[in-house]
Amino acid sequence: MSAITRTSPADITAKVIASFDGCRDERLRELLQTLVRHLHEFASETHLSQGEWQVAIDVLTSTGHITDERREEFILWSDALGLSMLVDALGHALPAGATESTVLGPFYVSGSRLRDYGANIAELERGVPALVHGRVMDVATGAAVAGAELDVWQNGENRLYAVQDPDTPEDHLRGRFRTRDDGSYAFLTVRPVPYPIPHDGPVGTMLHASGRHPWRPAHIHMIVRAEGYATLVTHIFDQDSDYLESDAVFAVKPSLLRRFEGRSDDDPARPPGVDRPWCSLRSDLMLARSV
Ligand code: BEZ
Ligand code: FE
Repeated sequence: MSAITRTSPADITAKVIASFDGCRDERLRELLQTLVRHLHEFASETHLSQGEWQVAIDVLTSTGHITDERREEFILWSDALGLSMLVDALGHALPAGATESTVLGPFYVSGSRLRDYGANIAELERGVPALVHGRVMDVATGAAVAGAELDVWQNGENRLYAVQDPDTPEDHLRGRFRTRDDGSYAFLTVRPVPYPIPHDGPVGTMLHASGRHPWRPAHIHMIVRAEGYATLVTHIFDQDSDYLESDAVFAVKPSLLRRFEGRSDDDPARPPGVDRPWCSLRSDLMLARSV
């Protein structure tokens, strides 16, 4: 009597991978086959149980349920697992000296109001006023990049972005600016504070269960767009902030740390309308040509 061959885990993996052999789109085939290989390796290596896999499926289901146009829980998973930063790093081989990129995050809202040089993006008088300024330059030549667009957004002293807070005007702490002929930009804002990423959903459950905290260090977001240059998505981090060493989304890069310099209310460089202690920060932005 011939022995009946039993199906091994390796047989299953090989069969699934082979099922994509006929995929005509070469890149899609590579992505799917590699995904299956790594997923199967993960299950095999960890001896994943039925119960554990069911928990993972429940997590994916609740991630779908909590996601809407204001809450991007899938992006949050990508951020909290460091995948957003990894994909960004793989796609950006920058020339030396170019300003580094970092995560976009879920609180970007396009179509911010275009504001004048030096304008105040804080629509409410809360927090420590901060003058942020610098120049946008070509990293290869050092030449000014005139007419570049800076799209900026940040949280306020209550830790929230305007898009999260129905009690603040929708233009609060966000705006677009154009650089002047010498590449300079400036805006008035308030000093950002550390804040927790949304942690009342599945990502928060994972952070809590694994003993991780949800905090991000204080930062200002920027997208810099200019004709002929690669669009730059980045942050300015407050170098004196807490959580620089343990950012919940792994987005801190040492080259993006900047100092908010404390200034007194009788400092002659005090911006118009500021009547209390304030601070200033200079950050030049070095762009790389698009290829
Ligand atoms: C943010 O900086 O806005 C952010 C980035 C990733 C996850 C959550 C928030
Ligand atoms: Fe942020």
